[in-house]
Amino acid sequence: MKLSNLLIGLPLSVVLLFSCNNKENTNLLDADKELAYCNTQVHKTLSEIDGKGMMPRNILANRTTWNLVPVKIEEWTVGFWPGILWYNYENTRKSTDADAATYYTDLLEPLTKLPAYDHDLGFQIFCSYGNGYRLIGNEKYKQIILNAADTLATLFNLKVGTILSWPREVDNGRFAPFNTIMDNMVNLEMLYWAAKNGGDKRLYDIATKHAETTMKHHFREDGGNYHVAVYDTIDGHFIKGITHQGYADSTLWARGQAWAIYGYTMVYRETQDKKFLRFAEKVTDLYLSRLPKGEYVPFWDFDAPNIPNEPRDASAAAIVASALLELSQLEDNQQKAKVYKQAATNMLIELSSDKYQSRESKPSFLLHSVGHWPNKSEVNASINYADYYYIEALTRYKKMQMELKVTGNFLD
Ligand code: GLY
Repeated sequence: MKLSNLLIGLPLSVVLLFSCNNKENTNLLDADKELAYCNTQVHKTLSEIDGKGMMPRNILANRTTWNLVPVKIEEWTVGFWPGILWYNYENTRKSTDADAATYYTDLLEPLTKLPAYDHDLGFQIFCSYGNGYRLIGNEKYKQIILNAADTLATLFNLKVGTILSWPREVDNGRFAPFNTIMDNMVNLEMLYWAAKNGGDKRLYDIATKHAETTMKHHFREDGGNYHVAVYDTIDGHFIKGITHQGYADSTLWARGQAWAIYGYTMVYRETQDKKFLRFAEKVTDLYLSRLPKGEYVPFWDFDAPNIPNEPRDASAAAIVASALLELSQLEDNQQKAKVYKQAATNMLIELSSDKYQSRESKPSFLLHSVGHWPNKSEVNASINYADYYYIEALTRYKKMQMELKVTGNFLD
């Protein structure tokens, strides 16, 4: 008999106590079923886009087919589709799925021969080649990641102590003379990886200095972040915190906070420095406290003016779910570990509902993400990075059920 049937007729307080304390609550998420769903959607997408040599980026609210983008350095999301294919292969173990992942990953190689364009090189190369190398150990992939890490590091400014996120914006009044965006935190992972896999050891120091500087300036007192921090290049001082994709400079953009949670969790994993664990908790606790009561997918900006009539951002929920599974595994506080694991599970349960899964309507995994609300682009859309972090989170969840490290492999 299902747990929910057993609970019918009990007073609500007893039901809540039971569901909070009982392990079976997490069984509401069937990771194998949801990963099989992802595999079905992957194959629908492959049939739709194969032979075009382009990457699926989004499916807008009123459309049922992917908008494809060419593989070019200016397109920050091109690494996510190959990354999705690697996670799918990790779960199916079918050689044809590895072939598809290899094909789309290899399309990115021209990008790795260019000078640094911006910080997104981390998303582009580590989500694709990084997962590919983890799973198949191709030495060529390793060299490509090492080269990309060196290229990304050329954007580091010693005076400021961070990576310049958007070199193209240094002459633009708002983002001049030097900008760092919160998303950049996630791209430090490629530097840490390179430093311990044969690359220059200074990449570790660059990544850690970036994380420290960002921790010092890029956040408000309550742990909420500005999307963009602007710094001076003469003496490196912090000039101002502003937004680019949030509602306003003073508001809490949901995906920006998601990148912070994911980034500081990863930096703690790599450094084992407790100050980063405590900070990951702080940015997480704010995010969780701001979620609508009993709901796990945020509005696109926690302070958007028309809540509850604002679009949700499934991508933020997917990024946070994936991060919190790892944070729960790294925690030194067992109570917090439990809270974070349960929150991540609840996020995945909500994302796996008929409200958020595309199912028969579209070949993406998820509906209802917001890309860039101020530009009115990708509002209430399926977006490739929402799908990427969703399949990553489901895969991590399955590894946790098997008592494996979320960042390892099933075969480890
Ligand atoms: N700037 C990357 C993002 O939309 O999160």
